[in-house]
Amino acid sequence: MIELTGVSKIFNEGQPNAFPAVDGIDLLLPSGEVTLFTGPSGSGKTTLLTLIGCLAKPSMGRIRIDGQAVSGLPERFLTALRRTTFGFVFQKFNLIHGLSVLENVMLPAAPLGLPRQQVMRTAMEILEKLDLTRKAHARVEWLSGGEAQRTAMARALINRPRVVIADEPTANLDSRLGSAFLQIIADLRHDGHTVLISSHDPLVLHAPVVERVVTMRDGRIVERG
Ligand SMILES: Nc1ncnc2c1ncn2[C@@H]1O[C@H](COP(=O)(O)OP(=O)(O)O)[C@@H](O)[C@H]1O
Ligand SMILES: [Mg+2]
Repeated sequence: MIELTGVSKIFNEGQPNAFPAVDGIDLLLPSGEVTLFTGPSGSGKTTLLTLIGCLAKPSMGRIRIDGQAVSGLPERFLTALRRTTFGFVFQKFNLIHGLSVLENVMLPAAPLGLPRQQVMRTAMEILEKLDLTRKAHARVEWLSGGEAQRTAMARALINRPRVVIADEPTANLDSRLGSAFLQIIADLRHDGHTVLISSHDPLVLHAPVVERVVTMRDGRIVERG
């Protein structure tokens, strides 16, 4: 369970150009559910996801994860939490050029200090699930859009995070690949992951796997369904 109470993020706080990108959000996200954040560009979706994923700290309010308040935790705890609790898929995928698919997928596991063979085995299992076995040793700069998307997904899953966060994951995909992405989400849900997606893609908005839709505008929630 992720619990947000009065969460705000004000950029350039205290300056004339101060801007509340997220403005007083109260929200409960039960474990194991798929939630979609939608709303126009600039409505605060990405900012909210970075707060939930502990990539940034709220200016106000409190975020609890399974009852533990994370907003006040020191940076070293947040780093550990980010690595083990959350898996991120960014809109631009952020894959590391010059490395292979397998190396990219293994990267987030490096700080955990597990045996390399074990990490590689896990990575290959995930790649197989995502139909990327044949591409394991290909350099990421040669991948198609769909392959890059699935590689980013595989990388998000390497540390078996309880919560997977995907920001506009289908923005660079055609509708066939978008559907493939939704199948991956359905599998994640089946495996008990909590999934948070931001998107204004109608394909995602109307997908049966999405259980909860939170609509944002100007940093606020205007509708929850
Ligand atoms: N680092 C930043 N500094 C100042 N303003 C920002 C920053 N990041 C985002 N914003 C602003 O906050 C608002 C919400 O942005 P964002 O969360 O990216 O919205 P969305 O993902 O819904 O498009 C936008 O108006 C954006 O320009
Ligand atoms: Mg965004």
